[in-house]
Amino acid sequence: PIPVYLDCDTGVDDAVALAYLLRSPSIDLVGIGTVSGNTSAAQAARNTLDLLALAGADGIPVAVGAHHHSSHEYSGGAAHVHGDNGIGGVELPRSGREPEAVSAVELLIDLSHRYAGRLHVLTIGPMTNIIEALEADPTLPERIAEVTTMGGAANVPGNITAVAEANVFNDPAAADALLTADWDITLVPLDATMEHTLSEADRVTLAEASDPLLRAVGGMLDLYFDFYRPTYGIRTCALHDPLAAVIAAGGTTITRGPRVPVRVDTTHGPGRGQTIADLRGQRLGDRDHPGARTRVVLDVDGSISSHLMQVLTG
Ligand code: BDR
Ligand code: CA
Repeated sequence: PIPVYLDCDTGVDDAVALAYLLRSPSIDLVGIGTVSGNTSAAQAARNTLDLLALAGADGIPVAVGAHHHSSHEYSGGAAHVHGDNGIGGVELPRSGREPEAVSAVELLIDLSHRYAGRLHVLTIGPMTNIIEALEADPTLPERIAEVTTMGGAANVPGNITAVAEANVFNDPAAADALLTADWDITLVPLDATMEHTLSEADRVTLAEASDPLLRAVGGMLDLYFDFYRPTYGIRTCALHDPLAAVIAAGGTTITRGPRVPVRVDTTHGPGRGQTIADLRGQRLGDRDHPGARTRVVLDVDGSISSHLMQVLTG
C-alpha cells in the first residue's frame, strides 16, 4: 500500500474521503493534519479523531495545523454547507484520543523522513499547512513521491466566486506555493469533481448500514445533499474530496489529464483564487508541456460513486 499523509478540513466530503481511504486496500494512511476551511482546524481534528475511533483506526496520528491562512484570518467556515460542527450536525461518539502534541507541519516533515521517497501527500482542504511546511523545510519535495490535491477550477466556473474554488480561495498563496514547488502533482479541480455525484439511494444505503462509520457518513450527507439540490435539481452531492482520494488510491484511470503549468491569482481583485491552467492547444487531446509537473485532471473513467460504494460497503 501507498503511505499517505492526508491534509484535510473535515468537512462532510472530507469525511467520505477519509472513510474511503481507511477502507482502501491500496492505501496506508500514516498521518493526518488538519487545517481551517469547512470548519476550524481544531474542530476538523475533533471530527477526524471521532471518525477514526468509529472506524477502529485509533493508531493513526492526527495533528492540528493552521488555524489562520497565509494572507488573512479564518473567518468561520462554511456552516451552510457542512453544518456548525463541519459534519452536517451529526454528533459522533467522542473518541478519548487527543491530537498529537506536534503541529501538522511537524507531523508531515517527520513522516517525509520516515517514508522518504515513498510518501504521498493528499490535500483536500486549503493548502496552508503545505506552504508552512515548504517554508520550514525547503527540501521537503525531495522526499515526497507525489502530491494529489483537490482544488481549483481550470476550465469551469468556481464554487466560491465566479472563478475560484473554495480550497484555493481560502489560501491562494498557499495553493500557488504548492503548485510551483518541485514535485509531481495531480490536481483534481471542479472540472472533474462536479461530474461525479452520489445518489440518494446510495446515501440511504450508507445511513442505514449497520457499520457505525458508514451510518455516520450517511447521516452527514443529508445536509450536504440539501446544499447541492439547487445545483443539480435533485438530492445529490458532488464528490470533490472522494474523487481526489480515489485518484490517489489508483481506483480510477485518468482519461484526460494534461501536464501543464498552473498558477494561482493571489491578487485581491475579482480574479483572486483563480487557478490559471495553461490549457491552450489541448483541443485534439492531451498535450503535456515540456517540464510541467502538474497533471490537471479533466476527466476520469467509470463511475466513481459505484467504486466508492463498493470499497465502503465491502
Ligand atoms: C472543496 O471545498 C470544501 O468545502 C470541500 O470539502 C472540498 O474540499 C470543494 O470546493
Ligand atoms: Ca475538504
